[in-house]
Amino acid sequence: MAYRITLIPGDGIGPEVTAATVQVLEATGCAFHWDHQDKVGADSVEAGGEPLPESVLESIRRNKTALKGPVTTPVGKGFKSVNVQLRQKLDLFANVRPAKSLPGLKTPFKDIDMVIFRENTEGLYSGLESYDERHGIADSIARISKVGSERIIRFCFEYAKRQGRKQVTVVHKANILKLTSGMFLRLAREVAAAYPGIEFNDRIVDNMCMQLVMHPQRYDCLVTTNLFGDILSDLAAGLVGGLGVIAGANIGEDYAVFEAVHGSAPDIAGQNKANPTALIRSAEMMLLHLGEFAAAEALHAGIMEIYTEGKYLTGDLGGPCSTTEFADHLAARVAAHV
Ligand code: NAI
Ligand code: MG
Repeated sequence: MAYRITLIPGDGIGPEVTAATVQVLEATGCAFHWDHQDKVGADSVEAGGEPLPESVLESIRRNKTALKGPVTTPVGKGFKSVNVQLRQKLDLFANVRPAKSLPGLKTPFKDIDMVIFRENTEGLYSGLESYDERHGIADSIARISKVGSERIIRFCFEYAKRQGRKQVTVVHKANILKLTSGMFLRLAREVAAAYPGIEFNDRIVDNMCMQLVMHPQRYDCLVTTNLFGDILSDLAAGLVGGLGVIAGANIGEDYAVFEAVHGSAPDIAGQNKANPTALIRSAEMMLLHLGEFAAAEALHAGIMEIYTEGKYLTGDLGGPCSTTEFADHLAARVAAHV
């Protein structure tokens, strides 16, 4: 049986890392039928369409699962982020972003193993923005709901329980944002009471940033609201080798979209330089989600081998390989594990 998966290459480095990921996925022996959705974001707008065409959403609703490259969002003007819209329209409320040290990389710490759970549909990304021209006043409303907060917190605890993880930290700013962050913290305390086997604590977000840079090994699962989760996951990427290696999954009740934490990296786009590891590891999460455990294991073993050897890495990690060379080496290793 072939899995029907929606494939959104995106723009910038998206098509390059997506092609590499498809090559490596196919080396696992799993069969895929890719439902290509090429026109999103600026490409779609230029062709006279919407940034996020209904046909793309329909494809994901039909297939339930998508693999997605990054999509550029214009800064300070232009259309609303395709990435944020996709998460909201499909109600992909949990953004799961593991940050684990890889072998063979020169990083300040060796033994980091965290998972960040970012609420993915509400908060400062709600899209409730307005500008009062006359008084020169801008508003962005950080609306969160009890239901939306509770479900991401519960999702984090359930994941921790299933995976045998020891600790959950809720990250907030409840000292200042007493109603929004305050509610999130209160709900986290309530949910935590139902999981006595998991150590629970909380950190104010600014202190959390300092803690993560000084003692990242002390942290395990972090659960937080949308903006804090966005920022902390790039910080966590920086601790384990950068944005080229950090995977992510957007999970909802009905659909799942797998994409890296990084963006479209316009500075290196089209140069065959991008590190596809981040999207490949997102694809590993997809294989686990599909129940393809042997394929996920083969993919994982291939990545660990390549990183342990350290000879075939991409330029962001000081290696000599292009995107396509890296993919060729990795695909061969993965195939040898099948
Ligand atoms: P970025 O993540 O695209 O790039 C930040 C830095 O990391 C750049 O120096 C880039 O070259 C490097 N980098 C990122 N991914 C890499 C990879 N796979 N291999 C090697 N180096 C890599 O963040 P930036 O520049 O802030 O955003 C660029 C665009 O991407 C913006 O339009 C932003 O809105 C969009 N974006 C899209 C996301 C998505 O589609 N989910 C997520 C984050 C940003
Ligand atoms: Mg981000």
